[in-house]
Amino acid sequence: MKVLKVKVPATTANLGAGFDTLGLALTLYNEFIVEEHDGVVIETEPRNLYLEDPEKNLFVKVLKYACENRGKTFHGAKVKQINNVPVARGLGSSATAIVGAIVVSSAVSKIPLTDERFFDIAYKFEPHPDNLLPAWKGGFVTALTDNEKTYYNQIDFPEDLKAVVVIPDFELSTEKARSVLPEKISLKDGIFNVQRVSLFLSALQNRRYDLLKVAMDDRFHQPYRKELIPNFDKVLENAYDAGALGVSLSGAGSAIISLSNENFDQIGNAMVEGFKEAGIKAEYKVLDIDREGAKLEILE
Ligand code: HSE
Repeated sequence: MKVLKVKVPATTANLGAGFDTLGLALTLYNEFIVEEHDGVVIETEPRNLYLEDPEKNLFVKVLKYACENRGKTFHGAKVKQINNVPVARGLGSSATAIVGAIVVSSAVSKIPLTDERFFDIAYKFEPHPDNLLPAWKGGFVTALTDNEKTYYNQIDFPEDLKAVVVIPDFELSTEKARSVLPEKISLKDGIFNVQRVSLFLSALQNRRYDLLKVAMDDRFHQPYRKELIPNFDKVLENAYDAGALGVSLSGAGSAIISLSNENFDQIGNAMVEGFKEAGIKAEYKVLDIDREGAKLEILE
């Protein structure tokens, strides 16, 4: 009987102006250790009773769906879930579960994991390729969905940049963070973002880090979402004062990320301080870019 382990990276989507488009994998991982079992048994580390409920555990739900999707009966699984990616902070914790389960189910069924099969299953649970793709493939990815087909491309990301991620002590669901967005945006704001995404990609390509600050500004989502994040502007200001090159909300929030090639701890502490002034506890992590994506290991 095989025991499989899949390790899936956290992700940060958007990176400012690249709303619903850009995503980056980070060196923070959730792990899922799975073996066949009659019935579902879930163990979590650290202990999380919500995730131990088979009806609620996303990894198990996707595993079951992926199995039934190819006409098989799902008999159960024994799952040990090691959670390092904080939930509902805009760091792709749901994507780790979805990607992990799809990778495991493909390995078990020996069905090649094509893009078509991946998206067919993944989109039943989360419609955001900007999280799903970096979690699956690693690195820096740009993605779009057109007419039910997903187009994507991996882009080089400079080796010397790290992400300083500040994680406040409150959850923000993607659903809530999307509910505050307007239905329509003006042409002016559209142009504002298109210009910045282009500048961002070119600044990374030719290491013009002086351009990252202006390139990571945004008018599509952050101006609306920041109302849900106390002291958002102050956290950004503190990060820039401490030497950050570019700062943005991570995904739908509530975490905020700074890109930098130095002063990592100063930036992290300055961002934590920004939240503290609003009475919010926070911690920071200095992370590299994960370049491998989901990794499957056969344990025995
Ligand atoms: N791009 C999506 C958003 C990511 O910002 O809502 C959701 O995880």
